[in-house]
Amino acid sequence: MAMRDFDSQDGNLLFGGMKAADIAAQFGTPLYVTDEARLRENYRRVYEAFSRYMETEVHYACKANTNLAILNILRAEGSGIDAVSIGEIETCLKAGFDPEKIMYTGVNVSNEELRAVVDRGVMINLDSVSEMKRLADIKTGLNVSFRITPGVGSGHDAKVITGNKGAKFGIPKEKIVETYLQAADLGLKPIGIHAHIGSGGQSVEPFEQEMEVLTELVNQLDEAGIKIRFIDMGGGIGVPYKPNEDEMDLNALASEVTDIIQQNTDVKKIVLEPGRYIVADSTILLTRCVDVKDAVTKKYVGVDAGFNTLIRPAMYDAYHYITLANRFGKACTGRYDIAGPICETGDYLGHNRVMPDVQEGDLVAIYDAGAYGFSMSSQYNSRPLCAEALVCDGKAELIRERGTMEDIWRHQKVPARLLQ
Ligand code: LLP
Repeated sequence: MAMRDFDSQDGNLLFGGMKAADIAAQFGTPLYVTDEARLRENYRRVYEAFSRYMETEVHYACKANTNLAILNILRAEGSGIDAVSIGEIETCLKAGFDPEKIMYTGVNVSNEELRAVVDRGVMINLDSVSEMKRLADIKTGLNVSFRITPGVGSGHDAKVITGNKGAKFGIPKEKIVETYLQAADLGLKPIGIHAHIGSGGQSVEPFEQEMEVLTELVNQLDEAGIKIRFIDMGGGIGVPYKPNEDEMDLNALASEVTDIIQQNTDVKKIVLEPGRYIVADSTILLTRCVDVKDAVTKKYVGVDAGFNTLIRPAMYDAYHYITLANRFGKACTGRYDIAGPICETGDYLGHNRVMPDVQEGDLVAIYDAGAYGFSMSSQYNSRPLCAEALVCDGKAELIRERGTMEDIWRHQKVPARLLQ
């Protein structure tokens, strides 16, 4: 399967059974719109791929998208959670998740945050020896796991590769046995092992290499008298963002990885933490063309969403497919750069895209925007955060109101002496 594409009706892109133009008319732009059915399907597909082979827990990496409606849907599907901050934990508890369904994997964690996570009854996946010692000072008797640095990295951009040697994350594989023994001495109960090689990888092989490392460590730990109950392979399953890009072979991934576990260890449970795979293609970003400019060497389509709304192109040079939702499938006659309202040259959503003759007022759809889209958005240039909607059975509902100027001013204080 390649990138997700959509049907149309009278030249209008259909999303979740509705015309995108009608959804935009209802709630304004910029607007993230999520297709509930697709979200559920994505969760089920990844859970079923792995659970066919062994006991599986899917911990949705909620950093990708923490909208409460989306979290409620995934809770109802039976998902667990990978959380990276106390804020994400509080958000998931608010969405009704049981603390036992959440695992916390922080990096450079403060004592204050550790205490709060312990208070919430959420299991901690330790990232460093320092964190382990500080946790044991707060409370003993806790089940824990450790994030290891497997020396294998993968990802769509250097900024999102995490498992390579020398990475900021985890405990080097050479130090694992001594660290687990020390944890047991300190009164903690190490029961799991975790690694995350990076985000958006498109091939199965790095995951196999990661699993070879993890299973070897499980056996070393076993010899040292420590029984591991689950292996957490992290997240990172890529999705196709380009029309002809292939999807990762999920079934091959699941069968290879679970096979390595079953051939080499007695571990009965696998945990995985997909973020992007579950939410990316469930959501499009709708943005209005407000300006068309001929800059002699290029033409610009100016839209009302910039890197304040979707930062991935500016930050990682990430590709998102872009099309006209109100003249869907029309012949492409021009080449355009799609740029937003942020006053920086780096504010772009796509370079050199072929599109029909774009007019002011056209509705632009940006695909695969559900992962790290809204969750990385900001109020830069004093532009309030955008709205989010959910489409289900041909009906759209708002799941986040558009931000206001009050949101931008909230919590700011001007000393009285400056008000004269
Ligand atoms: N588990 C851990 C420990 C992680 O650090 C991450 C992502 C995930 C799971 C989920 O990875 P996923 O399945 O979504 O690839 N902002 C970047 C991605 C950063 C990912 C950070 N960690 C982007 O927009 O591509």
